[in-house]
Amino acid sequence: MQPRNLLSLAAATLLSAALLPAFAATSVTGTLRADQPGPVIAPELYGQFMEQLGTGIDGGLWVGPGSDIPNTRGYRNDVLQALKELQVPVLRWPGGCYADIYDWRTGIGPRQQRPVTLNRWWGNKEEHNGFGTHEFFEFAELVGAKTFLNVNVGTGTPREAAQWVEYITSPTNSTLAQERRSNGREQPWKIDFLGIGNEPNGCGGRMRAEWFADQFRQYVGFIAPHGGTTFIASGPDATSADWTRTMMEIAIDHLDAFSMHYYTLPTGDWSAKGPATGFDEAQWLATFEQTYKIEPMIREQGTIMDEFDPEAKKALVIGEWGTWYDPTPGSPGGWLQQQNSLRDGLLAAANFNIFHRNAKRLRAAGIAQMVNVLQAMILTDGTKMVLTPTYHAFHLYRPFQGATSLPLSLQSPAYGSLHAVDGTAALGTDGKLHVALVNLDPNNAMDVSIALEGWTGSSIAGHLLTADAIDAHNTFDAPGNVRPTPFDGARLADGRLGLQLPPKSLVVLALE
Ligand code: AHR
Repeated sequence: MQPRNLLSLAAATLLSAALLPAFAATSVTGTLRADQPGPVIAPELYGQFMEQLGTGIDGGLWVGPGSDIPNTRGYRNDVLQALKELQVPVLRWPGGCYADIYDWRTGIGPRQQRPVTLNRWWGNKEEHNGFGTHEFFEFAELVGAKTFLNVNVGTGTPREAAQWVEYITSPTNSTLAQERRSNGREQPWKIDFLGIGNEPNGCGGRMRAEWFADQFRQYVGFIAPHGGTTFIASGPDATSADWTRTMMEIAIDHLDAFSMHYYTLPTGDWSAKGPATGFDEAQWLATFEQTYKIEPMIREQGTIMDEFDPEAKKALVIGEWGTWYDPTPGSPGGWLQQQNSLRDGLLAAANFNIFHRNAKRLRAAGIAQMVNVLQAMILTDGTKMVLTPTYHAFHLYRPFQGATSLPLSLQSPAYGSLHAVDGTAALGTDGKLHVALVNLDPNNAMDVSIALEGWTGSSIAGHLLTADAIDAHNTFDAPGNVRPTPFDGARLADGRLGLQLPPKSLVVLALE
């Protein structure tokens, strides 16, 4: 037990039980500089990753037009509606590791004639390829999201990638463009982001940085998307300063963005990652300590990129991020199914805060993954669907998409090696001042007082995300265990914002 908890306990015994709050509180002070606007928070930082993996697509969002599950041209209506409400800015497909074994020709044309392929990375599942190129781009249109297509470098060729891109984007009468039309799509689609390779050091081909950098240049030289595309070069899984430096030395003139991946494992050990539920407080804390390691990684990547690109014209992208736990017991091997608890919701918020602090260089991210896989927004089982605490965190942070970040400094008590309270602030495109605060400490409430410099407002609306247990989660039978509730505990007085943050909670406020 930490010293302040002992103190809290001693103080509490002096009070009558009737006067006791449910938890002890400690103090956080801070300053928010509304008069010092920082970089715009790119909406694409709230991107989603969807890979052909387990039920991430098949069953999760795609059931086919003949399904009994209510659908729009094959896309689940319940999932579609939930994603529209989330304002998903960008969708990445088809992988991940799968991208480097994907042959785009298996996913076009009449569905009943598409080949059955084996997903060697993810349980050798038989893929019927009902969800292919047309289905992805139509899905993105229905969701209202930009597109991030990842082409195959590991087992593909520049010719195949160039032809796929021509098929998708060409407005001409080329044979490939006509083939798209004969498959039902007259107008070309736009590829907003084009990923070349995925984790090329590992599942993407076990390449060395020099070899991949040269291949990246070769691919860029032959792929000619119509309509403007951001070319993204892959980094390895986690981060490697050497890889980034090599990519910059060899390929900086050919890339628009560079992508790193980072997964949060509670133990940091891939052979025993830790469970998604039923964990103790030590593992709760360890999970947050692991996730905050992403911030120095982002800074390190940015520092290397600064050497080659001091004006930050090239973006850093976090192509994949999120929690990775031991799979749900009994779930099929390689499907990466896991529950999602309050811990995931607060961890998502912590990552958003980190992304905002680094918004000058960091301009897109993709949580892994959107439905049924790893840190998902949505879980489905047959006809059933449930929204996760991570979904709710994304939903609460919607006003930060496209907002102008503002400096927020906080003096917080410690929680383990971390600050108990982390926060972010931004001026929204709606003209409101948005503030989000997360309290990682599961035992102590925090009395927060923030000086508002350069802001005068008079009203506050807010929402709270918390639960009784650190591993509280939503199930198909109890979908509302963890969900946002209105929060009216914040006050404006004497140029300060004051509130009490409950233990293990997220509060998101809009001031006007
Ligand atoms: O998201 C699951 C996998 O994690 C992706 O396919 C791969 O890129 C990463 O290693």
